Amino acid sequence: MRQGLTASPKVLHPKYFYDERGSTLFDQICDTPEYYPTRVESELLSAHAAEILALASPDNILELGSGASRKSRLLLDRWQPSGDATYLPFDVSEEMLGSVAADLEKEYPHLAIHGLAGDYTAGLDHVPDPLGRTLWMFIGSTLGNFEPAEASAFVSEIAGRMDRGDSFLLGTDLHKDEAVLERAYNDAQGLTADFNLNVLAVINRELQANFQLDRFSHLAYYCEGRRRIEMHLVSEADQQVYLEALDLTVAFSAGERIRTEISRKFLTGEIREMLEDAGLTVTRSLVHESFPFALTLATKT
Ligand SMILES: C[S@@+](CC[C@H](N)C(=O)[O-])C[C@H]1O[C@@H](n2cnc3c(N)ncnc32)[C@H](O)[C@@H]1O
Repeated sequence: MRQGLTASPKVLHPKYFYDERGSTLFDQICDTPEYYPTRVESELLSAHAAEILALASPDNILELGSGASRKSRLLLDRWQPSGDATYLPFDVSEEMLGSVAADLEKEYPHLAIHGLAGDYTAGLDHVPDPLGRTLWMFIGSTLGNFEPAEASAFVSEIAGRMDRGDSFLLGTDLHKDEAVLERAYNDAQGLTADFNLNVLAVINRELQANFQLDRFSHLAYYCEGRRRIEMHLVSEADQQVYLEALDLTVAFSAGERIRTEISRKFLTGEIREMLEDAGLTVTRSLVHESFPFALTLATKT
């Protein structure tokens, strides 16, 4: 937080969005008519779950940034493991993870549910190495929140943790019409704006700060040159904010922005290249026809 708020321009890591309220808001955003990625990725998963499971043939499914595990259920519903099987949802939002894991235990009594609470950008050393073949999943286009070099490094780290025969299912949003993209991050109900502003409430609570949420506004737009949505909070006035836990005063001028998220929109070729550079072999590439979005399955051979 100190680094980001004293940088120029100011920037915050998107992982800070996801306290209990942020996670709930994100889940609600997924249901808005404008936020096509959830709908489209769900359609791909529903249509191809049996094929993905047949190709990966997993004994375990380990999901990074699992959130509400809603789309994951589309795979879990069709998963018929031959022996002991474990689903390992990994998320930074401990509150969300706890309640989701409790629900999943009831819904899937034949599966062991092993929730992993933590920050996956802090390294995957503590991720258990479950017995048998593992399907790693990173869906929801969360990889789009990473800068290009960070994304490649993270995919390489995952590939490095995978054993031979393991698979990796990656869900990534693709470049498309600017108006469709911008609508998705500016829903009419204002849920994305609330989600964006909620990060200031997180800072207020966690670092005893005095951000006034009504003195900042939500801004999201597509940056064509970098093929990414950028989400910002814009200061409505000249103002100062004090973060007691850091003993830090941050000055904002009117119109100054904090960049809170990037959401990159990929080309299919660059996804394949990233996976192959990490030493994986792409076995299936599924692209939604009306709203370009990719689900890519790769294995470690
Ligand atoms: C864009 S949401 C996607 C959620 C879900 N996978 C989906 O497709 O709907 C990103 C998820 O990743 C989690 N997350 C974000 N940063 C994280 C981090 N550094 N470590 C672990 N989880 C993280 C968030 O809590 C959230 O549940």
